[in-house]
Amino acid sequence: MSKVTYFSGETFPLEMHKVRIIQKLSLLPIEERLKAMESAGYNTFLLQNRDVFLDMLTDSGVNAMSDRQQAAMLLADDAYAGSATFTRLHDKLKDVFGMPYFLPAHQGRACEHILAKAYIRPGSVAAMNYHFTTAKAHITELGGEVVELVIPEGLKVTSQFPFKGNLDLAAFEALVAERGVENIAFLRMEAGTNLIGGQPFSLANLRAVRAACDRLRVRLVLDASLLADNLYFIKAREPECADLSIAEIARAMADCSDIIYFSARKLGFGRGGGICVRDERIYRQLRGFVPMYEGFLTYGGMSVREMEAIAVGLDETLDEDMINQGPLFINHMVRELEANGVPVVTPPGGLGAHLDAMRFLDHVPQTQYPSGALAASVYLASGVRGMERGTLSEQRDPDGSEPLSHMELLRLALPRRVFTLSQVNYTIDRVRWLYANRRIVGGLRWVEEPEVLRFFYGRLEPIDGWQHNLVAQFRSDFGSSL
Ligand code: F0G
Repeated sequence: MSKVTYFSGETFPLEMHKVRIIQKLSLLPIEERLKAMESAGYNTFLLQNRDVFLDMLTDSGVNAMSDRQQAAMLLADDAYAGSATFTRLHDKLKDVFGMPYFLPAHQGRACEHILAKAYIRPGSVAAMNYHFTTAKAHITELGGEVVELVIPEGLKVTSQFPFKGNLDLAAFEALVAERGVENIAFLRMEAGTNLIGGQPFSLANLRAVRAACDRLRVRLVLDASLLADNLYFIKAREPECADLSIAEIARAMADCSDIIYFSARKLGFGRGGGICVRDERIYRQLRGFVPMYEGFLTYGGMSVREMEAIAVGLDETLDEDMINQGPLFINHMVRELEANGVPVVTPPGGLGAHLDAMRFLDHVPQTQYPSGALAASVYLASGVRGMERGTLSEQRDPDGSEPLSHMELLRLALPRRVFTLSQVNYTIDRVRWLYANRRIVGGLRWVEEPEVLRFFYGRLEPIDGWQHNLVAQFRSDFGSSL
């Protein structure tokens, strides 16, 4: 991907790849979209993909593969133990991160499970720049507590600050002093901080965090699932790193970490995950959990074909022309929406464009899930499926009370190499229309609320039937257009 200047003087992202396999899409009329949303309980996770036009739910496991990845899959060595494919993936990870040990797992949350099993006891504290849903669920399930230490700027929806995922070092020191180092299970730094809008941290911050961990004797775990975007942002936004290659930045980040885990559904454009470890003692602490929960040590629940694809995908992650596609498309989407007055998280982060539901639907109280209502109404307006990242994605406290999320976001994820600029522009157009008609949209309430990870499969309904008014307005504005 590059950025080119048009004759008009405007600058647009330009794909540096071509499409060689396609999948036909359909865009249902809005009346059919309404029926689909009704049967999905107003939860975009429960929509059938055949009813979705552009699937911007996530980039997890749905990034487009390259010709080189597909070719590598044919070379996969299928063996329960000692597969040559495992050795190839392991060698590639050693190359990228410089860590000698690798424990494969079937996806990112499986790594979180293993780390929680190894280090979390009742009363343990897991410090982090910000939580991720599955990481937190594993920690709290075992009686641990998550403490978030992102800098205050990170929780401001709009900002000019380039590294909103940075950790607040003074708050970290204070936490360790208050709780005692023996109770701190680890410090988790999440690259491309997911729930606050895909915001990166800087290499300078990570290095300062490393120094603090050395001083305080705390283990540093890097969640590298969203590493690709963070690498790009360090190169693009951190002047001291402008001359480093993406590979050098990746190595510098790894050098700060004791343990790196990742979802290869994101990092490496495949499906799988794993934990890289520098220290043999830590490797031995974690190793036993892999055959118990995942699979033998040389596949950990992954298919060998996917492992081959990940090894090549890691190479492509270090290729700036490849990894900048996400951030450049997202930048285009965010800046266009912003220019048209639509409230969005700024600066543009990785993963996707994030709409600020708190301002978009400022008439809907947080207890009526504005970001869930926005996810449902964007689908109705466009056939585009996004993901709620707000109070619905939180879990209830042990006493049953419901914490309100710091931010109410609708994420429109841009899986890599999947959508074209005209599809992105269509999405921008329909979001603009919805913003102009935002007063029609109301809140949601539960019909069925699961106890664990409720956002995945809970069912809701609109309060006061606003969905019918939205459909009527769409027809009156667009006539018979889809
Ligand atoms: N860590 C981060 C930062 C993630 O974004 C994810 C997944 C995981 C861990 C868990 O990995 O899905 O392979 O088990 N994020 C997906 C998303 C689900 O859509 O944002 P997984």
